[in-house]
Amino acid sequence: MCGIVGYIGKKKQAAPILLEGLEKLEYRGYDSAGIAVINNGEINFAKAKGRLRVLSEKTNGGKDLIGCAGIGHTRWATHGEPSDINSHPHLSQSGRFAVVHNGIIENYMELKEKLIRKGFEFISETDTEVIAHLFEYYYKGDIMDTMIKVIDRVEGSYALGVLCSDYPDSFIAVRKASPMIIGIGNDENFVASDVTAILKHTRQVCYVEDNEIVVLTADDVKIYNTDKEELEKEIKTIDWDVSAAEKGGYEHFMIKEIEEQPKAIRATISPRIKDGKIVLDDVSLTKDDIKNLRKIFIVACGSAYHVGVVGKYVIEKMCRIPVECVIASEFRYSDPIVSKNDLVIVISQSGETADSLEALKVAKNRGARVLSIVNVVGSAIANASDDVIYTWAGPEIAVATTKAYSTQLTVMYLLSIYMAEKISTITSGQYKKYLEDLEKLPDLVAKTLENKEQIAYLASKFYNCHSIFFIGRNLDYAVSLEGSLKLKEISYIHSEAYAAGELKHGTISLIEDGTLVVALATVDDLFEKTVSNIKEVTTRGAVVMGLTTEDRSMTGIADYTIQIPNTNDIFLPSLTVIPLQLFGYYVAANKGCDIDKPRNLAKSVTVE
Ligand code: G6P
Repeated sequence: MCGIVGYIGKKKQAAPILLEGLEKLEYRGYDSAGIAVINNGEINFAKAKGRLRVLSEKTNGGKDLIGCAGIGHTRWATHGEPSDINSHPHLSQSGRFAVVHNGIIENYMELKEKLIRKGFEFISETDTEVIAHLFEYYYKGDIMDTMIKVIDRVEGSYALGVLCSDYPDSFIAVRKASPMIIGIGNDENFVASDVTAILKHTRQVCYVEDNEIVVLTADDVKIYNTDKEELEKEIKTIDWDVSAAEKGGYEHFMIKEIEEQPKAIRATISPRIKDGKIVLDDVSLTKDDIKNLRKIFIVACGSAYHVGVVGKYVIEKMCRIPVECVIASEFRYSDPIVSKNDLVIVISQSGETADSLEALKVAKNRGARVLSIVNVVGSAIANASDDVIYTWAGPEIAVATTKAYSTQLTVMYLLSIYMAEKISTITSGQYKKYLEDLEKLPDLVAKTLENKEQIAYLASKFYNCHSIFFIGRNLDYAVSLEGSLKLKEISYIHSEAYAAGELKHGTISLIEDGTLVVALATVDDLFEKTVSNIKEVTTRGAVVMGLTTEDRSMTGIADYTIQIPNTNDIFLPSLTVIPLQLFGYYVAANKGCDIDKPRNLAKSVTVE
């Protein structure tokens, strides 16, 4: 969702750097953008509804806004429609303050009414404008004191960048439950919603915690707590390759990230298997802890939730511990029966998803132990967890996740096998075999990717469909959920995933002549059962695209067959998902959709 970039330097102009940084944050999802730059104590700004291109044209590539310090923002509308006026930055009444904000101010109505009574006039419908006016209301000449007052009054989540015309050589920033990092350069410093925005300029970053106040000048960054005490912060070096966040010759980030999966899976597995044993350095769960677990919850949103659905089957099969997989936004408001003998696994690529973070807090407040599976190092969910297992997917830019999903699955396998071995629910022979098969997974994923041509052909045949169904049983059902989501989020074709045996309890009435059904039949002992379900739909006119392992034939059963390499049943989801990702991608490409930035979606959802 919203993206923030702030820049302060000595010689370079801020506006083009801000525009370029915002471009790198486009993937987060937005519908308008704006920048403000300070020059000789005067704040100038430009805002525009629509893509960044519009803002860039309006400001002549940023050249029309002179100044070496500024803040920029991409907005994903929550309070008030996407429009020039509702775009950030928002200025205080006198124009002394300019504010960009990511997050939601929950008590903005109460604050707005108060400010209106004090004579402030609002021109936008946003919650953020309240902050700009609050700065002016509390300002007595000291920006730090004002910031402390403002954050004391606002409730909700925020990452804020604030320019003040009285401080032409600095700007100030703060965060609470919304992402923000600091970039430290030579004679220039940055704030940004994530590192991709500043990677071109610096790799030295510093992670700020909730309510730490950052004061940036061209040659210094100081961080304070709300008692105005300066804090010592560790500076970390980002070792991501810049090219990891560039398209590098691919038409879309999504296809690049699909292709990167063997590498990402290998990077996630390899360091964790040493001398024939799984080593999870960051997991402090002991054998007794695992033995005493009453239940495991897996809590997540979107594709991460779909990983959880696979995880439920895998953990239950291997560890014989009951697992419940719950959508985070449901979990947090369900008064969940969760307590100290439960493990809550939170899965999140961004580590910032508001519902997942709040669900995590609910679980912790009730005494549960929280283990998270996260891609973004130092993110809020990682910081709030008892244990973290990082996925080493590298930056994922396309809104529709692929390599993050695959590496999350991989961690799920590692964790399940690790726990099963500890509590002896698998034999040492099985343990050894699982590890051997797991280590082969990156090569099998690479082999599955070789079948691109067939999938592209099938996509070219079916991209005009109005509705597509995905069916499967157990693990195949879990992957169907992801295949269906991939397709609909980027191609805008209506699609549903159904447990194959459930179709006849209602949904089969939607099957008519020519309806495409993608039937997943990879799980060995359920093959025949799924074939029966395929027959039920073909009898009613459906066209079936069957997906099975290379040692099976679906001739005479399905109209088209996609085959994947064979491996241990529990690892099949890692292979089954590949043709489905490619199918969604090629269907969307045939339709000419904006694949990396699908309409209405955001990569990092920081509102509930
Ligand atoms: C958004 C993205 C999805 C993602 C979900 C959870 O909706 O568009 O692709 O699966 O958020 O994100 P997380 O960062 O928590 O994995």
